[in-house]
Amino acid sequence: MGATTEWLEGRERVRIQRGLVREDTVRVDTVRDGKSPLLDLASNDYLGLSTDPRLAAAAIAAIHRHGTGARASRVVTGTSAVHHELEQELCTLTGAESALAFSSGYAANLGLLGALGGPGTLMVLDEHIHASLIDAARLSRAEVATCAHSDLAALRALLAGRTQPRAVVVLESVYSVLGDAAPLAEAARLCREFDALLVVDEAHGIGVTGGGAGSVHAAGLAGRDDVVVTATLSKALGAQGGAVLGSALLRRHLVNTARTFIFDTGLAPAAAAAASEACRIIAAEPERVAAVSRNAALLAAGCGTEAAAGAVQSIRVGAPERALAIAARLQSQGLLVGCFRPPSVPDGVSRLRLTARADLSTEQVRHAAGLVSTALAEQPDADEQAAAGPGAAGAGEAA
Ligand SMILES: Cc1ncc(COP(=O)(O)O)c(C=O)c1O
Repeated sequence: MGATTEWLEGRERVRIQRGLVREDTVRVDTVRDGKSPLLDLASNDYLGLSTDPRLAAAAIAAIHRHGTGARASRVVTGTSAVHHELEQELCTLTGAESALAFSSGYAANLGLLGALGGPGTLMVLDEHIHASLIDAARLSRAEVATCAHSDLAALRALLAGRTQPRAVVVLESVYSVLGDAAPLAEAARLCREFDALLVVDEAHGIGVTGGGAGSVHAAGLAGRDDVVVTATLSKALGAQGGAVLGSALLRRHLVNTARTFIFDTGLAPAAAAAASEACRIIAAEPERVAAVSRNAALLAAGCGTEAAAGAVQSIRVGAPERALAIAARLQSQGLLVGCFRPPSVPDGVSRLRLTARADLSTEQVRHAAGLVSTALAEQPDADEQAAAGPGAAGAGEAA
């Protein structure tokens, strides 16, 4: 056996022992498979637009007009009219001066931070920032500091003590796993005080918060040249791809220096057209956005958790085995929830992640919340039970 095969087998054994195996299970297609539908509270299709016929029609029209692929990098021959149209729609929706579309949100983050970093830059990352931004900061060759989650005093100390001429602070408007909101207005004030650029990943904000315009717009920060937004087209916008929203000067800098823009084939025209259509629908149908907030409040009340800032309801469950067992139990009852285990979360704080989509009915949300509460009560947290001592109710059952 080769050294690599031996190593791969060792890695697999560790994953199995720790309850950390992940699988790319095929999504149940109710029409194709003839199975009763699972109630999906795991996807990020917050507005239910990924199956909207208007997005499909826009995508098909773009395929007929521009082809199934972009054919080349955007700076060679890969830019079509649909890309510029999408960038304009994103600006109209969010109030940004300028936008640049990438082939994914991940690529947008890598491209942006790579183009902003380099020697002489301090990048300050919130400790709960998405993996794409951690990778982006590492690749940027900037000096990287991690800040305690949403801790403004810690952020101030890091900015005040910096020795580098430039600083970039990186937050998410709505955190992808925790579902809580960043203190954007206060962070922007600190950034201005210490002459730092604020980068906000709005993957879970745009289409959901601020009436759909996102949290940066809601905080009155849209269009400022010291605030940059990154977005994904693959969540509320129901398509695929990503974007950076900022000044026209920043856009020109990215077109010329962002490696994931220059050395990557352009975003597929179908995805660009579908996302453009989604932007128009969000502006025209505010009731969709309002339905997310309504369902999020219902879900939180039913699960007995704090109301979420956006669509994401995050429930801490402790050990990865417990998270898996609860998710499996819920799936057997027809409910699909996200199950986040290390490395998506720190050790010992695995989470169930539920999303309050706009297209769920009140009955569906209440039903889901009821199943989740029961499953949590049926599978008590072993650590909490142990801490409560041998007399704790249900300790025997947990064992
Ligand atoms: C906060 C955040 N940023 C970036 C991304 C990456 O976006 P995409 O899926 O479009 O690559 C995600 C998606 O998982 C995310 O949650």
